[in-house]
Amino acid sequence: MILDTLNIINFKNIAEEQISLSADVNCFVGDNGAGKTNILDAVHYLALAKSMHTLTDSQSVRHGEDSFLVDGRFRRDDGRVDQVVCGYTRRGGKTLKRNGKEYDKLSDHVGGFPIVVVSPADSALISDSAEERRRYINRLISQIDRGYLAQLIRYNTTLQERNKLLKTNPTEDMLLIYDAMLSASADTLFKRREEVIAQLRPMVDEYYALLSDQRESIDLEYRSDLQTAPLSELLLQSRRKDFVNEFTSVGVHRDDVHFTIGGYPLRKFGSQGQQKSFLIALKLAEYRLLAEHCGDRPILLLDDLFDKLDMRRVAQLLRLVGGDMFGQIMITDCNKHRLQRTLSEAGVEYRLFHISQGKASL
Ligand SMILES: Nc1ncnc2c1ncn2[C@@H]1O[C@H](COP(=O)(O)OP(=O)(O)OP(=O)(O)O)[C@@H](O)[C@H]1O
Ligand SMILES: [Mg+2]
Repeated sequence: MILDTLNIINFKNIAEEQISLSADVNCFVGDNGAGKTNILDAVHYLALAKSMHTLTDSQSVRHGEDSFLVDGRFRRDDGRVDQVVCGYTRRGGKTLKRNGKEYDKLSDHVGGFPIVVVSPADSALISDSAEERRRYINRLISQIDRGYLAQLIRYNTTLQERNKLLKTNPTEDMLLIYDAMLSASADTLFKRREEVIAQLRPMVDEYYALLSDQRESIDLEYRSDLQTAPLSELLLQSRRKDFVNEFTSVGVHRDDVHFTIGGYPLRKFGSQGQQKSFLIALKLAEYRLLAEHCGDRPILLLDDLFDKLDMRRVAQLLRLVGGDMFGQIMITDCNKHRLQRTLSEAGVEYRLFHISQGKASL
């Protein structure tokens, strides 16, 4: 999938901008705070109808203005063209249109415009709690499986109800009903997570080896209570404990994905560059999974390309994503000369945009 043209109005520090993008590699260079990441975020709005940061829509409206508009023309590998417009007004909220027609539900858009982002903020996946990793896996699977999100919502609702019930001294029969509902949803989520992580694993390994010149071995491993027994059984076993604690102590809401380097936890034993390389390998594996599922290559956003990586790894990454497996790419960096040098070393053609105070120029 290619984003041909991008029009932005009153989005963060960008007052009004029209950008014609190359179908291959696009580079955005400029000083800190110039607006490079903001351009990528505008693209993120078109693909997923929200910011790639934990920002509310109103925070994305340019200071002193009432609304923003992002408008993009997408071209698929099969030639189909889609005009996507995402608008937000402080009074009326957000609207998303495809070819002039407004979506009933924003979620109908998700998965149709695949995008993968590599950003310095990814480090939270390693440093933060299991919840962050569950959120990542959930977001990934939701893009390739429409039923997954519905099942996840069902599980979370049932879990909340069961926890509420535990506080009211319920009968065993009452609890059994909830256990059955919870187990049914949990089984589906568990299987899907297991499958997707098993698919990701060899790809992450392969990409990490390419980025690091096979220096270290890494792995990711799914951890779930359900690996020991079905949830219905586990709930029975933990029933007494749950009564005392007044919450559900087993289930897929406790799942985690363990990242390791040389067999040791990546968070503690991986260097900054190794952790970053791992995250890139994970994102590239995600890219491949989305590409296979959508039948269209996602747009790849590489924000702050040199963040924590040495030249060698950046060059290796550029050689990799410059190949045919990957489609359109948008890269940001604050050092034009370093970026240009590395791109030409890697033999990658590109279009360069200078960004300054929210304005783009070739
Ligand atoms: N709602 C807003 N209205 C106006 N300006 C905003 C708004 N939100 C953010 N900005 C401005 O956008 C700028 C940050 O832009 P951005 O994050 O794209 O910078 P960048 O070029 O990626 O910089 P860096 O190299 O540091 O990553 C800041 O100057 C910030 O004040
Ligand atoms: Mg930035």
